[in-house]
Amino acid sequence: MHLAPSLSVYTREQLSARQAQRLAEFIAFGPIVFQACRLLLEFGIFGALRDADGGLTVEETAEKTDISVYAAKVLLEAGLSCSVVLVDPATDRFQLSKTGWFLLNDPSTRVNMAFNHHVNYLGFFKLDEALKEGRPAGLSALGDWDTIYEGLSTLPEAARKSWFDFDHFYSDHSFAEALEIVFAFRPKRLLDVGGNTGRWAIQCVRHDPDVQVTIADLPQQIGLMREQTAGEPGADRIDGYAVNLLDPDACLPADKRFDIVWMSQFLDCFSEEQIESILRRTAAILRPESRLCIMETFWDRQRFEPASFCLTMTSLYFTAMANGNSKMYHSDDFIRIVDRAGLAVEAIHDGLGQGHTILVCKLK
Ligand SMILES: C[S@@+](CC[C@H](N)C(=O)[O-])C[C@H]1O[C@@H](n2cnc3c(N)ncnc32)[C@H](O)[C@@H]1O
Repeated sequence: MHLAPSLSVYTREQLSARQAQRLAEFIAFGPIVFQACRLLLEFGIFGALRDADGGLTVEETAEKTDISVYAAKVLLEAGLSCSVVLVDPATDRFQLSKTGWFLLNDPSTRVNMAFNHHVNYLGFFKLDEALKEGRPAGLSALGDWDTIYEGLSTLPEAARKSWFDFDHFYSDHSFAEALEIVFAFRPKRLLDVGGNTGRWAIQCVRHDPDVQVTIADLPQQIGLMREQTAGEPGADRIDGYAVNLLDPDACLPADKRFDIVWMSQFLDCFSEEQIESILRRTAAILRPESRLCIMETFWDRQRFEPASFCLTMTSLYFTAMANGNSKMYHSDDFIRIVDRAGLAVEAIHDGLGQGHTILVCKLK
């Protein structure tokens, strides 16, 4: 199994027995840890501690954040045990710890926490059903759809915002480097499969004054994309193609002779069999000189272990909430599927943005 050097921690025991027991309790109380820390943030307690020179007592925290002394006390005491705040026993004043600082200031942690609360939290009660039945059993907590993608345009507002913030946070950070890789092929026509609200397409038409972009996505998303791109410079060079690629008979547009087919954070929405089927249909519209560029986050190729942690945990979002059968893939598994679909990986670009890889593929 390929593993980046950062993941050597996955190959041998790291903890003493005492540390392991502590972590086991931390996991056993995981949902409570999560909600306590989320509210330390949400109620403004972390912010108040950051802003106060020398820290705050329980009473001062309660006054500054407009909650009861009881609420401030239970949250701050839980915060001590979660290592997100520290107390000075001489003055009874609380301060932010380093971990508390990250929860307050780290953009990735903020996005992940909102996503886990608004999209995942309630539905994960049904993770067991989802794993056993191969369907997103937790999705009923948000609405009545077969997959979350069908509901993206109509999710409850907080879930919708958190879903898009999560999705955009990861892909947006890679687009600048990805443009350089993709436009080195000087494409005249580009097909963006799973192009969602058109953020990548807009970047492409800005980057190159001649390129034509077609976005293929579910009909609901094509509607959203038109709203989001309206009035943007170059939007007249973006068109939409509504398709449900879960239908094995659905084709990609064959008439346009695309130079590049682009799939960003798209194939992780599908099972291995579905990916192979979509890639076979993609191969059918490629010419020998065209390239398929796949941008994905592979859990085995991360420079830093916390990124791999986020990805293997996100796999279970796909299980419980998204569709019940997809995941964040290991690159070995993924490259095997590319190969089975009649494509060859020509180049691999690692380390883009928050940990994306681009696989440049061509017909075999
Ligand atoms: C995770 S989003 C990725 C969006 C964008 N490419 C990015 O990098 O941010 C996955 C996209 O795939 C689309 N999608 C999911 N299932 C689909 C299907 N069965 N057919 C077509 N598009 C689908 C979703 O609507 C969504 O726009």
